[in-house]
Amino acid sequence: MNTSFWIHHFTQNAHITRSITLNDEPCNLPDSIRLPLARSIAIFQLGESGGGTRLRAYAGKIAPLENFQGYLDAMDLFVAEEQGHARLLAKLLARLGGTPLKKQWTNSVFRSLRVLVNVEFNIQVLLTAELIAEVYFGSLYLRVPDAAVKQVARKLLADEIKHLAFQRQFLSERLRSLSPPLRLLWHWQFICVHHITTWVVSWDHADCLRAIGLTPRTFRHRAADAISHFSKKLWQSVEVLDSFEPEPYYPEGGLSRLE
Ligand SMILES: [Fe+2]
Ligand SMILES: [Fe+2]
Repeated sequence: MNTSFWIHHFTQNAHITRSITLNDEPCNLPDSIRLPLARSIAIFQLGESGGGTRLRAYAGKIAPLENFQGYLDAMDLFVAEEQGHARLLAKLLARLGGTPLKKQWTNSVFRSLRVLVNVEFNIQVLLTAELIAEVYFGSLYLRVPDAAVKQVARKLLADEIKHLAFQRQFLSERLRSLSPPLRLLWHWQFICVHHITTWVVSWDHADCLRAIGLTPRTFRHRAADAISHFSKKLWQSVEVLDSFEPEPYYPEGGLSRLE
């Protein structure tokens, strides 16, 4: 795994994240969007705010392996970036008049799931959340008529796309050591976990999705597109050495609008 690339990337990106000032134009969103959006963002904010203790402990076990040297340092920077997301979302939440959450059931399920099996499963559940975040923040960016929401959604979308490439590189190295039947089994459970998670998230955030003109069903379809795009890249990376260039899936074909 090219950990020096990621250490460099996360270090550079931290400077950019620190320099962001939230757009202070007045928020003119109608309550029909602002209230469900605030509730939805509060859940994502909580999800981003973990301390990364378990992730770090897992990374520490992997780091001594020859092809993962430096992984622990990269993971520290990755966790710091996620905490930066939590701070940014907290500011956005305050602007929307929302209240930060201390506990929320879907978030608790996510956290419990992540410690169930091993480091690969921990990363996989994290990756599932990031694949869903890609569709979610892409949709907010394209559909919410508020400058600060667009600003934060765009930043988080750009960062999460890199995170997907980071996790993909880790998983492709690990999956390479599995036999073809085990790879198939892994893929099957990956799709299942993602499918179930998407149902739960689309149900939990249904009010917000509808407020921005997306049905939960459409959201699930886009999430399914995102994982199939990711899986294709992942298996290509397992077969050949990963170029680690992120090739993102964007909801609504909005790539050109992000440039
Ligand atoms: Fe994040
Ligand atoms: Fe992330």
